[in-house]
Amino acid sequence: MNLDFTQIVPYIPFILKGIGATLQFVSISIVVGFILGTILAICKITKVPLLKWLADAYTSIFRGTPLILQLMIIYFAVPQLTGFDITAFVSAVLAFGLNSAAYVSEIIRAGIMAVDKGQTEAAEALGVPYKSMMLNIILPQAFKNILPALMNEFITLTKESAIVSTIGYLDLMRRAQIVGADIYRNFEPLLVAGLIYWVMVFILTKIGGLVERRMRQSD
Ligand code: ARG
Repeated sequence: MNLDFTQIVPYIPFILKGIGATLQFVSISIVVGFILGTILAICKITKVPLLKWLADAYTSIFRGTPLILQLMIIYFAVPQLTGFDITAFVSAVLAFGLNSAAYVSEIIRAGIMAVDKGQTEAAEALGVPYKSMMLNIILPQAFKNILPALMNEFITLTKESAIVSTIGYLDLMRRAQIVGADIYRNFEPLLVAGLIYWVMVFILTKIGGLVERRMRQSD
């Protein structure tokens, strides 16, 4: 066995900085994906055919092509069309946010469909306006049911974030690769990065469990 962790010790702060870099764009992407995903989900269940069609087409495109391709189109190809350079950070937020919205919209749509029809009927019978029915009656119930699926999506995004290393963004993955190239040893830095990803997902899972328990208490 040829392992030597002493060599990466001076590089540890450099690798750790990648946690912030990764979390920064992942958290913004999650918010973007959630908001856009909710809007898309509502479009999918409306009775307006054009909105439905547009939302379905959106999901079809973003779910039907690889995320790494979307990222590269935004980072390398869009500047060619517009003439404006786009930073790796903004590209990452856009690619991950837009991609996640496609998945989140399906999760939320399924959650809304699973809420008993009687809830809508009762709200309509009482004359509750559509917007308030959605915001105060349907979505809160849907949200509780889809929490595990949403958590899954956030975990996926956290791990998939590693592909931003391909556009030169100095995230955790890229930093591990740089250290590996610097000391001619890849196993140790990759192992450290892997451990950090695992801890991040572990904490995310715990937070999810906590929120879930808190929501169940209100039953
Ligand atoms: N590797 C998959 C792809 O390239 C992951 C997509 C992201 N998944 C997600 N749930 N947002 O298409």
